[in-house]
Amino acid sequence: MAFINLTNVSKLYKTKQVTTKALDNVSLEINEGEFVVIIGDSGSGKTTILNLIGALDKPTSGEIIVDNLDITKLNNNKLNEYRANTLGIVFQNYNLINNLSVLENIMIMKDIKKDISDPKSMLTEVGLSDKENAFPLELSGGQSQRVAIARALVKKPKLLLCDEPTGALDYENSRHIISLLKELNEKHNMTTILVTHNQAFTKIADKVIELKSGQIVKLYTNDNPIKPKDLEW
Ligand SMILES: Nc1ncnc2c1ncn2[C@@H]1O[C@H](COP(=O)(O)OP(=O)(O)OP(=O)(O)O)[C@@H](O)[C@H]1O
Ligand SMILES: [Mg+2]
Repeated sequence: MAFINLTNVSKLYKTKQVTTKALDNVSLEINEGEFVVIIGDSGSGKTTILNLIGALDKPTSGEIIVDNLDITKLNNNKLNEYRANTLGIVFQNYNLINNLSVLENIMIMKDIKKDISDPKSMLTEVGLSDKENAFPLELSGGQSQRVAIARALVKKPKLLLCDEPTGALDYENSRHIISLLKELNEKHNMTTILVTHNQAFTKIADKVIELKSGQIVKLYTNDNPIKPKDLEW
């Protein structure tokens, strides 16, 4: 069985006036350790898929199995356990706490999971050891994104979900973040799902999923993904 299995997953958002089919009967498999890129136009359902796999939201219908857990059927305790033990999430807008230092932003993960990596070595891993006492508002976008990645990784997640982690970054910072994510994916065999608008990133992925209007329009694997250092766009 694959690490992640979505079977006939649909998600409808209903308001008084309209119903939006954000995901329309999506089925897919992701293997352990895979680096997956999800691509598609704005509104195609990318964030919706991440939110469902991250158990931040529930599907309207269909089944989602992650790491042998049927996450649509877990009670609240088990859901919290799943979020704490299995998941790392990097949000597009960083979600750092501005009145805590960089190091403190990472250390708060200890409240969620007892067994975390050393926060300082995590900062070294993302190349920010000199910024541990800085505050989020003193950081550049790329640095903030790296803190958010360090915070997600310090819990040693089996599954890392990243929603447009380079959306707000320039070319050099984007390259740096993508290289880092790929390196950590390989080093820790951490299944990684990266949502992006950048078509170039499909070349470094093991698996590419393209969405359009809530449906999968392309799904393929790359036998020889290129190295991030060889990536240009
Ligand atoms: N909470 C919500 N209530 C109503 N509609 C929603 C909600 N969240 C998303 N949608 C709708 O569902 C569809 C898919 O949205 P989603 O956020 O998954 O798109 P996306 O591919 O992530 O787009 P983007 O690239 O702009 O981030 C869109 O039509 C969106 O308007
Ligand atoms: Mg989105």
